[in-house]
Amino acid sequence: MPVFEIKFDEITDRKSLLFEESELIRKAEEILPKAYAPYSKFKVGASLLLENGLFLVGNNQENASFPCGICAERVVLFYAKANYPDLKIKKLAITTSTDDFEIKSPVAPCGMCRQVILEYELKQSSPIEILLFDTEKLLKFKQAKDLLPLHFSEDGLKRR
Ligand code: THU
Repeated sequence: MPVFEIKFDEITDRKSLLFEESELIRKAEEILPKAYAPYSKFKVGASLLLENGLFLVGNNQENASFPCGICAERVVLFYAKANYPDLKIKKLAITTSTDDFEIKSPVAPCGMCRQVILEYELKQSSPIEILLFDTEKLLKFKQAKDLLPLHFSEDGLKRR
């Protein structure tokens, strides 16, 4: 039976991070409190780094009509691709917080966000590194594909 592995590294020493990674983390933390999450009370901050060195940020936006809400990752990814369609995304960092309970480990992106990150990764033909972190732990995924092993892509739409 085929076995899929989810590969990632746990970074124990944050001093070993590149400056751009520390900045990415700082920016995700900075945008998180501005999330609009009155219903779930679960705030998410996301930041990304483009190949030209530009950092972009986003957070989750909820709505009284629940399905209208959108995750932090897709807010920043769609903003990036709406404004800089030709620039590659190098890295994406995600963090969460809530006053309601203790978050015990870094939260991973939902399935829809994984699919969106992967679409851009496949199109740009270079990896989008993903950093998931909380105050304690930092997990690093080398590419979006590692978070969505059995994925759907454009190839699935082709008639053979
Ligand atoms: N959320 C995100 O922003 N990103 C994720 O990957 C998971 C969930 C948001 C959506 C909703 O506003 C809240 O977290 C609770 O699900």
